[in-house]
Amino acid sequence: MMWETDKPLRGYNTFGIAAKAAYFLPVVDLAGLEYAMREQPAPFFILGGGSNVLFTGDLPAAVLANRIQGIEVLHENEDEVKIAVGAGMRWHDLVTWSVERGYGGLENLSLIPGQVGAAPIQNIGAYGVEVSSAIEAVDAYDLDQGEVLRFPASVCEFGYRTSIFKTTYRNKLFILRVYFRLLRRPVLHMDYGAIREELNKMGVATPDVRGISQAVIRIRQSKLPDPLLIGNAGSFFKNPTVSQDVYDAFLHRHPGIPGFPAEDGRMKIPAAWFIDHLGWKGYRMGDAGVHDRHALVLVNYGDATGQDILQLATAIQGSVYEAFGIRLEPEVNIIG
Ligand code: FAD
Ligand code: EPU
Repeated sequence: MMWETDKPLRGYNTFGIAAKAAYFLPVVDLAGLEYAMREQPAPFFILGGGSNVLFTGDLPAAVLANRIQGIEVLHENEDEVKIAVGAGMRWHDLVTWSVERGYGGLENLSLIPGQVGAAPIQNIGAYGVEVSSAIEAVDAYDLDQGEVLRFPASVCEFGYRTSIFKTTYRNKLFILRVYFRLLRRPVLHMDYGAIREELNKMGVATPDVRGISQAVIRIRQSKLPDPLLIGNAGSFFKNPTVSQDVYDAFLHRHPGIPGFPAEDGRMKIPAAWFIDHLGWKGYRMGDAGVHDRHALVLVNYGDATGQDILQLATAIQGSVYEAFGIRLEPEVNIIG
């Protein structure tokens, strides 16, 4: 076990930003974390799959790259299967494991990049399901105290793209393991219109978790750029919510503006609609751009720096605020 120094991170973030880490250590188990604690050469930064970060410069940090693997079946009966999963496992590999066995709960979250350990942090969500619905607990190593803590789902404060791990405990805990409860008699979620449409196109009359997973994969591949081909971190901003009155006023001025019921009687308006409406889709400033098929996805065409992407994001935020009075909040973690 040894720290690497001046480690190039371009291959470790899906934006493909060419930042360097002062120190870098792959962590495969608890012993690795204990070594890191003894040696700590700089403040820690925890890195998963790098699919939700924007490095705005080199990191003067000791990067802990999570490599903890493994799926353990803890308990099963005719209704459910309880598993503990190593936080460094690739998220989609877990979904595939579960879908292949016909277990329900994760199929709508197919093909989301990144690792299992990051899933609870922003409570990943897609196509009508959030991961919090399948999480029972999270084990994490407290980087101040050097002890393992267990967080039952009831204390995780899960919400839309948030949890206690993204707020109170940001960068204070290293998530080690996530506990899931999967269903042997799956409850299928097909409310998201595009899923039924895709199942029809696929000729699937009686869907199961495999069919739903396939449909979600096909929709995602048609909409979102593949980070292996073009650098990006998925949605750059969160979708904002407004009160019903404000939404009605928007609807009056912009008939057809999309809106979806959210928490506390508020309405969620797609951030992509605001950005698209202002003509940003397909815009390019050097190697930083707005994807030409999805206005919420900022892209790196090759050699954009984190500052280039940040500058573009700031310009978009300013333009949306000026035109609509809406403050877009980044979903991506801006580091540096
Ligand atoms: P990273 O980017 O490595 O880290 C994200 C944050 O979590 C950082 O602050 C990091 O310090 C922290 N972190 C990571 N691992 C740990 C750990 N073990 N312990 C403590 N802290 C940790 N998200 C969605 O919710 N829904 C989507 O549909 C979706 N689609 C996407 C599509 C594309 C093409 C891309 C590129 C991204 C998409 N995302 C989506 C965002 C992203 O995939 C998720 O946020 C994912 O959970 C990030 O995982 P990661 O391992 O890459 O995290
Ligand atoms: N739209 C536009 N222009 C565009 C794209 C979309 O106006 O260029 C409008 C359309 O009205 C469309 C609506 O925005 O109906 C919603 O678009 P989409 O279905 O693509 O969903 P989204 O709101 O942009 C959210 C999540 C995604 C998740 C999808 C599917 C957020 C911030 N993003 O995107 O998550 O995969 O729904 O559930 O909530 C991510 O978090 O990184 C991510 C990709």
